[in-house]
Amino acid sequence: MSTNIIDGKAFAADLRAKIAKQVPALPRTPTLAVVLVGDDPASQVYVRNKIRQTAEAGMVSLERRLASDASQEEVIATVRALNDDSKVDGILVQLPLPNQLDEAAIIAQIDPTKDVDGLTETSAGRLFLGKEGLRPCTPTGCVMLAESVLGNLSGKNCVIVGRSILVGKPAAMLFLEKNCTVTIAHSRTTDLPGLCRSADILIAAVGRPQMIKEDWIKPGACVIDVGINRIDAPERGTNKTRLVGDVDFDPAAKIAGAITPVPGGVGPMTIACLLRNTLLASAIKQNVKLADV
Ligand code: GUN
Repeated sequence: MSTNIIDGKAFAADLRAKIAKQVPALPRTPTLAVVLVGDDPASQVYVRNKIRQTAEAGMVSLERRLASDASQEEVIATVRALNDDSKVDGILVQLPLPNQLDEAAIIAQIDPTKDVDGLTETSAGRLFLGKEGLRPCTPTGCVMLAESVLGNLSGKNCVIVGRSILVGKPAAMLFLEKNCTVTIAHSRTTDLPGLCRSADILIAAVGRPQMIKEDWIKPGACVIDVGINRIDAPERGTNKTRLVGDVDFDPAAKIAGAITPVPGGVGPMTIACLLRNTLLASAIKQNVKLADV
């Protein structure tokens, strides 16, 4: 890989190894429960990877699968049973959920001490208030990758393109906690290219393939691409597709000081941070003080 490409895969593998090393320090093996409703192919792949990597880190994983026509009551009963199970340290409800389900109402049922996705109102509120708590995984991975390149982030201009509750908003709080000057851009932002050009750290989290062009990037900036978009790739043959981010990678890589690829950038960090949250939640529950991971 060229030197300015951030190897998220290697960084995540390193983080997972550090997590695995800490697992034996806990009297009871940390346990992550994953709830998957329906048969969305992408969600199935994500959940399979989460389960495999949980086991590889020496932790226990439980899977609860529900049919795509599962009712709100069934999903809530599943989450409540996991809340009540003292062996379960972390609960993740894979999103998106099928249309008949009220996602927010289901997330709200998760015991905040087991909220390894950091999505409950308690977790979001604690992040907003600057109190300790479980932080959302993808934004945490973005901060770690930015720090791996830039070291101390204090005083850096951070522009986040996208205001989702899963990435954009929590990322803004996390970069603010690092003393960045944070701007959140969205579909109504005026002069988005100009704003992006002011960024020392540019976080792309809009879900639009290759939207961010090379002339939107300040020379030398650190570009973190959260997008995972599947596009047609006729150059690879008929009916072939490939994954791309929200940044037009090849030209952008010539301008950026550092940039994450897709795949192999932020994606692997999300699961590593999920395992980290499971370890942290378990350590708190078991009253064990761990070394920093
Ligand atoms: N679907 C895509 N990303 C995520 C994530 O980080 N957490 C959950 N629960 N679902 C997702």
